Amino acid sequence: MSDSKVYPVSEELAASAHINNEKYLAMYEQSINDPDTFWGEEGKRLDWFKPYTKVKNTTFDPHNVDIRWFEDGTLNASYNCLDRHLETRGDQVAIIWEGDDPSDSENITYRDLHERVCKFSNALKARGVEKGDVVTLYMPMIPEAAVAMLACTRIGAVHSIVFGGFSPEALAARIEGAKSKVVVTSNYSLRAGKSVPLKLNVDKALEHDAAKALVESVIVVKRVEQDVAWNDVDVWYEDLVADASADCPAEEMEAEAPMFILYTSGSTGAPKGLKHTTGGYMVYAAMTHEYAFDYKDGDIYWCTADVGWVTGHSYIVYGPLANGGTSLMFEGVPSYPDNSRFGRVIEKHKVNQFYTAPTAIRALMQQGEDVLGDSDLSSLRILGSVGEPINPEAWDWYYRIIGQNRCPIVDTWWQTETGGMMIMPLPGATAAKPGAASRPFFGVQPALLDADGKELEGATDGNLVIKDSWPGQSRSIWGDHERFIQTYFTTYKGVYTTGDGARRDEDDYYWITGRVDDVINVSGHRMGTAEVESALVAHPAVAEAAVVGYPHEVKGQGIYVYVTLQSGFEQSDELLKELRMHVRSEIGPIASPDLIQFSPGMPKTRSGKIMRRILRKIAENDFDALGDTSTLADPSVVDDLIEHRMNRK
Ligand code: PRX
Repeated sequence: MSDSKVYPVSEELAASAHINNEKYLAMYEQSINDPDTFWGEEGKRLDWFKPYTKVKNTTFDPHNVDIRWFEDGTLNASYNCLDRHLETRGDQVAIIWEGDDPSDSENITYRDLHERVCKFSNALKARGVEKGDVVTLYMPMIPEAAVAMLACTRIGAVHSIVFGGFSPEALAARIEGAKSKVVVTSNYSLRAGKSVPLKLNVDKALEHDAAKALVESVIVVKRVEQDVAWNDVDVWYEDLVADASADCPAEEMEAEAPMFILYTSGSTGAPKGLKHTTGGYMVYAAMTHEYAFDYKDGDIYWCTADVGWVTGHSYIVYGPLANGGTSLMFEGVPSYPDNSRFGRVIEKHKVNQFYTAPTAIRALMQQGEDVLGDSDLSSLRILGSVGEPINPEAWDWYYRIIGQNRCPIVDTWWQTETGGMMIMPLPGATAAKPGAASRPFFGVQPALLDADGKELEGATDGNLVIKDSWPGQSRSIWGDHERFIQTYFTTYKGVYTTGDGARRDEDDYYWITGRVDDVINVSGHRMGTAEVESALVAHPAVAEAAVVGYPHEVKGQGIYVYVTLQSGFEQSDELLKELRMHVRSEIGPIASPDLIQFSPGMPKTRSGKIMRRILRKIAENDFDALGDTSTLADPSVVDDLIEHRMNRK
């Protein structure tokens, strides 16, 4: 990785941006040395029903991890995103919705959105949803997804969004984990002109007894005029809101009241539901959105994420709307009707800030430099990247082709757990280096530790940890605080362990090098290798499975699977297909293996532990450097694996 090229901040931006370098340094110092004063001021960017008098009350002590921000204040997230803007910007567009079909778009003003949210809030109440209840959203990228989120937070219900690409099995597990009585979905979703039977997945999820016993209502948005199977628990969204009152005052919530749960993958066990709470999360989402994108009144901002991921929560809905911004929500895909779609949407809506993932950039890059056709991109000011490391080639392409050599790129490193961005350049303050997430945001204290937990100084590589709390941080794992502590606060004591490795250079810039645990990142989707393995071994033909990541040109990482078959099963193309389908149906299409190698044996130590290091190397096609294999029970297994390896690039 080269860090020789530096893109300085333009004088114009340094002069006009919210934050220039001087300001960054001064604010950063205060945020670390006097967090109470710093965040006490920043908290005022929200409207509080009852102002807080306490600001930070947090400990990472592994015996008692306890994180509270603004704890004696009360507020409502939906109120902060809607009501407080009505007087000054009721007629301003809050959400520009761009449908899958380019002729399908809609401008929703703050007044419209407020009314829709109030009606749906009352509809939820009418279905028995009360403060503290969990509502599961399994929805496409349609305005009703944002409406449902804001309706939940308005009445103090906790939303748990399950990405629409997850399978019925995955959905059932999340409904059960969150003990959710209500599911909101749509009859179909639209993707590249085809309708996808989304509700059918809910029906299948509810074939699981535990999920079925819980769910009392499935609220169905009619996205497509097409028939759908109907059950006793089903009710049309449109019928519910038709008669609902548009008057629904926002509930007064404590700052630490749960706001949403979001499931994410770890290196072990089932996906965990991270709990985010109201006050700190909202302050952090709003502030990072404003500063990272240098967001100003009247800007049109577009984040291409899905609301099923944390990026969609913080940077399509809550951050932009808390700031009274205009947020573009895109239902479609970058390749439909053709590969110029991103450019067309930027031109059509005159987008000023554009936030996407490296995998999307790499996919476009493969189509050539004229992929966006003659789209007018002159409205763009700032570009963002999120979800995985951006390789310098993709960074350069993004800068030249989309940014036309003039828009700064903010490469934002963060996680579902962190609630908002943690390490990123600020466009008016930080000179960019392609591939570097660069400098910490206010209040964020990164450190690099060696394997023994010793803090490393200067330019070096290490395990990335965060030394103290910041307001957007997840407070717990839903229903399992002990697991939260075990996962994030015990490997190294007294700090939050990110699971990522990083390098710090001579300028104190951080370069994220990727996960140091058994988590892989496929097209920006985070996945535990253990999850894919357990899906595979559930198939009758599979005796043993090991899953590793390998470098993939477009996806960043691809999924490489080693499978040992049960005796009596033969390897065949049929079986390959079946195993792929099996993983898709257990987890979802995003977990579909890219390469499957039938392996009569696995490289194991004498105590029976699979040596993943070796499997990773072979998957990377880098088997000259396998390291010491002498501790293997049967070293000859390795030769066979190399001979039959699937990645020969
Ligand atoms: O490995 C890091 C990678 O994505 C992980 C977090 O994934 P998730 O919780 O799904 O959240 C994604 C959206 C914030 C991190 O542990 N990651 C995320 N952003 C970057 C990144 N790696 C390098 N550079 C980034 N900008």
